[in-house]
Amino acid sequence: MFSRSRLVAQAVALAGRRTMASTAAETAPKAAASADYKTMSVKVVDGIAVVKLDCPGPVNTLGEQLMADFQSVYSDLSSNSSVRAAVIMSAKPSGFVAGADIQMIQKCHSAQEATQLAANGHVMFNRMADGPLPLIAAINGEALGGGLELAMSCHYRIATDMPKTKLGLVEVMIGLLPGGGGTQRLPRLIGLDQALPLMLTGKSLQAKKAKKAGLVDELVVPIGLGLNSAGQNTVDYLEKCAIQSAKDIVDGKKKINRDLTIASAKGLKRYLTNDFKYTRDIIFKKAREQVMKSTGGKYPAPFKIIEAVEAGLDKGFEAGLRQEAIGFGELTQTPEADGLMSIFFGQRACKRIPKQFGKVDKPAKNIAVIGAGLMGAGIGEVSMNRFDVTLKDTSPEGLARGQEQIFKGLNGKTKRKTMTPFERDQKMTAVHTTLDWKHFNKADLVIEAVFEDLAVKHSVLKEVEQHIPEHCVFATNTSAIPIGEIAKASKRPERVVGMHYFSPVDKMPLLEIITHEKTLPEVAAIAFDAGNKQGKTCIVVKDVPGFYVNRSLAPYMAETMALAMENVPAERIDSVMKKFGWPMGPISLADNVGIDVAGKVQLYLTQHLGNRMIGGDPALLGEMIDAKFHGKKTGKGFFLYDKKGKNQGLNPEIEGLIKKYSAGRIDSSGISDEELQMRCVSRFINEAAFCLQDNIILSPTDGDIGAVFGIGFPPFLGGPFRFVDAMGADKFVDMMNGFSDKYGEQFKPAQILVDYAKNGKKFYN
Ligand SMILES: NC(=O)c1ccc[n+]([C@@H]2O[C@H](COP(=O)([O-])OP(=O)(O)OC[C@H]3O[C@@H](n4cnc5c(N)ncnc54)[C@H](O)[C@@H]3O)[C@@H](O)[C@H]2O)c1
Repeated sequence: MFSRSRLVAQAVALAGRRTMASTAAETAPKAAASADYKTMSVKVVDGIAVVKLDCPGPVNTLGEQLMADFQSVYSDLSSNSSVRAAVIMSAKPSGFVAGADIQMIQKCHSAQEATQLAANGHVMFNRMADGPLPLIAAINGEALGGGLELAMSCHYRIATDMPKTKLGLVEVMIGLLPGGGGTQRLPRLIGLDQALPLMLTGKSLQAKKAKKAGLVDELVVPIGLGLNSAGQNTVDYLEKCAIQSAKDIVDGKKKINRDLTIASAKGLKRYLTNDFKYTRDIIFKKAREQVMKSTGGKYPAPFKIIEAVEAGLDKGFEAGLRQEAIGFGELTQTPEADGLMSIFFGQRACKRIPKQFGKVDKPAKNIAVIGAGLMGAGIGEVSMNRFDVTLKDTSPEGLARGQEQIFKGLNGKTKRKTMTPFERDQKMTAVHTTLDWKHFNKADLVIEAVFEDLAVKHSVLKEVEQHIPEHCVFATNTSAIPIGEIAKASKRPERVVGMHYFSPVDKMPLLEIITHEKTLPEVAAIAFDAGNKQGKTCIVVKDVPGFYVNRSLAPYMAETMALAMENVPAERIDSVMKKFGWPMGPISLADNVGIDVAGKVQLYLTQHLGNRMIGGDPALLGEMIDAKFHGKKTGKGFFLYDKKGKNQGLNPEIEGLIKKYSAGRIDSSGISDEELQMRCVSRFINEAAFCLQDNIILSPTDGDIGAVFGIGFPPFLGGPFRFVDAMGADKFVDMMNGFSDKYGEQFKPAQILVDYAKNGKKFYN
């Protein structure tokens, strides 16, 4: 025996210790009955206490009140000899515990304060794990962050085998580390090799995978409809199973033994990863290299996670907890955590339909998608979970292509074991496919994704209106045609709206809801609600050229093209912008989007934004289009690509072209990395500010969320408006004015920035 789990050794010892069962079938413990818990209820069934977490609001979060209530409940239960074990579960069918209360963390004004907060949590969780009362976590829905740390401090975990049941330490996504003992308990439970990637990426495991990993001890199969809903029946059944498991554990009928012997394959692996320093050090070294490679060192949290895990395995559990608390405290005070938390709250805010659109009385249930191409098939795929879906195209080949795309998407899930082959096939057959207008008479929402051509869109709109019911909303996924122009062909333009998805639809989280002058508020609300149900984060945008994301992106792209024409090598532009935190350099982005598409957008927006588009001459892109240098898809753009789409270096034929456009321009080959970054990024931010000033977007939050989720503005900076707040509007405006003097009027700051600078205002309080 070499790998001891202190948690469970305790639980094993506990079995049989508490033998005095309560005689009452269902009672409340004496002390608990008198206490007024705000976040939980307690009852005792046959000597097993059932603690049901129930915070005010839609989800449970681990906040001050819940911790205080739990401390008190735990003290009562452990001193009550009639209670033999306790089940901890959620009273909410929605989930177990969604994580720690982030606002509580944000209230900490120093690293020391936050370190103390984590240390207080450690005391509570250690008390649970080391205490004599056997604890069973019964999990339905999400057990994330602090929620999982709570569950890991229990001696046994039982979970419903439902897609919505997910377990994960997701803190890295808000720039933190798991501060409730997670960095110590997870590697001891499931092994360093499985624990580290989970903590470093923030990915969560579905119940079945969690069971396989050793994080869950028992699965409960969901049960169907009865007198109650299927969800409620499953929760009731979970409670029953958890109570039974608790009884079996205390009666010694169920053994929890997490000790592994080196003689087993699993035991040998655990020994090599957790206990043998030589191999463990290699794992940590590789993890650090991998984090550096994937984040460019921009995110401190993953490194602090590794530090805490390493301390725990090198120097012991207590030392690991101390390191965890210190790392947690330090991370709470970083700008990166600020930026990421702001994105977290922003995304949550963007899940609510803006007040001015009112409530959705009749949410869409039937969606019909016209055009089974790249976008249409993607829209169909993301709609399948929550809607009855019809997919229409003009040819059987078009339909078959779309179906194949959807199948590939679902099959990926099957391969990753997040969907069974049966579920995949069931979903595939549930989609109605049609070449005519079958099923359109039931449609509540039609989403058009046909060719980007006004005449085609007009003819589709006119025809569809002959087949849809009066209430049906018509949404177009046009990338650039004004929604108002499309709506001109409609008998009821007030029911026309834009739903601008980003490609690939199944992966990109943002959806722009575009309202034209006549769109009714309820129509925007229906589109917003549908987008939410498709899993998208929605922002509402006015009907202007480029909408929000592409409009802000265009001056940024113009600036990068200007730099290329000022003798800055394309590779350098890409690498310096990636260093800033963008997921992809701008030159590669143009190649990925397609020079034909990007070129058209640049030309189109040049007509509308005038001087704000000054930069690289868009004629260069025109020449590239003529030369069939369409980017990655044709193997040639600014860069060359092999058959697998891998970058093979600069396209030699492009150098001559760029040279042609360099004539008469300044030479910026000696520009510093920082100035290069600021020249490009300030153009994006300035245009985003114009969008806010001109009410194209509703709020700075929408602007930040749109930039991060639509185009990958570095999340740790929190978005363009957070960026200005962090830098100070005055400094930002000074910088823009400096660039304006040096490079031209395209850098003239938006009036809103000038006003904020003058009044010392911030976009966020
Ligand atoms: N591709 C992108 O990255 C992207 C991003 C956002 C928006 N969009 C917009 O989405 C729309 C579709 O783009 P896509 O990339 O999916 O194009 P696509 O060429 O892949 O697909 C268009 C599909 O529409 C079908 N179609 C054409 N006319 C039709 C009609 N009258 N009735 C039914 N089906 C018809 C075609 O057969 C084809 O299957 C365009 O307006 C485009 O601008 C594209």
